[in-house]
Amino acid sequence: MLNINAKEKDESHVIPTVTPKRPAGQTDVLQLTCPPIPTVRVAFIGLGMRGPGAVERMTYIDGVKIVALCDVEQKNTEKVNAMLEKRGVSKAQEFYGDTSVWRKVTALPDVDLIYIATDWKHHAKIALQAMRDGKHVAIEVPSAMNMDEIWNLINTAEKTRKHCIPLENCCYDFFELTTLNMVQQGVLGEVIHGEGAYIHGLQPYWNQYWDDWRMKYNEEHRGDLYPTHGLGPVCQAMNIHRGDKMNYLVSVDTKAVGNPAFLKENRGKEVKNFRNGDHTCTLIGTEKGNSILIEHNVTSPRPYDRMYQLTGTKGFANKYPTPGYALESSMLQSDSKDFENLNAHSFVTDEVRKALMEKYKHPIVKDIEEKAKQVGGHGGMDFVMDYRLIYCLQKGLPMDMDVYDLAEWSCLVPLSEISLNNNSAPVEIPDFTRGAWNKLNGLKLAE
Ligand SMILES: NC(=O)c1ccc[n+]([C@@H]2O[C@H](COP(=O)([O-])OP(=O)(O)OC[C@H]3O[C@@H](n4cnc5c(N)ncnc54)[C@H](O)[C@@H]3O)[C@@H](O)[C@H]2O)c1
Repeated sequence: MLNINAKEKDESHVIPTVTPKRPAGQTDVLQLTCPPIPTVRVAFIGLGMRGPGAVERMTYIDGVKIVALCDVEQKNTEKVNAMLEKRGVSKAQEFYGDTSVWRKVTALPDVDLIYIATDWKHHAKIALQAMRDGKHVAIEVPSAMNMDEIWNLINTAEKTRKHCIPLENCCYDFFELTTLNMVQQGVLGEVIHGEGAYIHGLQPYWNQYWDDWRMKYNEEHRGDLYPTHGLGPVCQAMNIHRGDKMNYLVSVDTKAVGNPAFLKENRGKEVKNFRNGDHTCTLIGTEKGNSILIEHNVTSPRPYDRMYQLTGTKGFANKYPTPGYALESSMLQSDSKDFENLNAHSFVTDEVRKALMEKYKHPIVKDIEEKAKQVGGHGGMDFVMDYRLIYCLQKGLPMDMDVYDLAEWSCLVPLSEISLNNNSAPVEIPDFTRGAWNKLNGLKLAE
């Protein structure tokens, strides 16, 4: 008889994944610190739509030297160097010509950090060589596309003791950072469920990508191909690999309609078996009995949406379509003079939300919020991300995000595809820390 109350784990239906044994003599890189680098010398690889903005943002950060610019296309390196000149910054050495020119850049002796903003297929290859060449690496998202790449990045980071981080800017948006601070101060109670998404029609961009890499990837792969914007901030709030861990996922997708129609209308191309469904949902179960829902849709006529919802035992946070908090009144008793009659059945008023956002502003943005909003990059969050990357390197502090975050957030790409190819069967999510997921007691951003 089926015991509907059964809570015991039955893992017999979960598709196992392989966790390679940690090579002898190697240890984890949790809270990795490296010697401080007062002036961080940066080389950028990949200067298409995303990369140039990163170079420009870096010109607003003290103690950064832009040493090299690399792209397949000469016009891209030239354009960015012209921007540097306009900004009154020394021009950088240019590397261009083909898809292996980056090897000269990772080998440069006078570089501390390689910042990678190429198409997805080159991310891991470049990052691996960069670490072997003694450089820290920051990689655009998703930072790795399959399990081999992910494990190679982990092993290489552990072996070389270099930072290898995902450039997950959405962890630095102001609502997410404030909410993280509220979570860490117990205002929402325990977060038992999180939701995140990337819902963004890419029609204006499809024809702009170098070599059509993004549409090609969507054409060839089912699954959530862009999970990190949704997953990153949720995992941070739920202390993934800092007290909890993701155990398995299950994905369901729709048929593919929008992208094949785009290809037909815009390029006269008929694709019979377009792999990526218009909408993909992935549910994740965690070790501590909590859940996460992540969605992906880059084609339907919908407003931009990253969802970002946290359900706590004492309150609720929601970013899209309008930011809001709902809280049990007991959570803010000490503030009862300031915050009216709270009741978790409805959102707090705009006034209370603004007061909460001010009160719980994350300490890491207090000094730089104004500058971040001026410099910009998705409203300022991109600047906060770059600033934090440089700040931690300059001070020799642990990074806000580590190679295990990179692994956890990127692994949805290959693992959701395995689930979909197996009729939505559950797929095991490895413990990328190989036994250390409970070693840290929550996420702490270094100050
Ligand atoms: N975090 C965000 O908000 C955000 C936003 C946009 C894009 N992205 C990510 O940024 C990355 C780049 O996206 P994009 O929109 O700029 O794409 P893009 O096609 O406009 O640019 C990619 C660039 O990389 C260059 N390139 C490709 N292979 C290379 C190689 N081997 N060596 C040197 N240069 C190479 C291409 O010439 C091109 O200029 C992707 O990973 C994407 O997912 C992130």
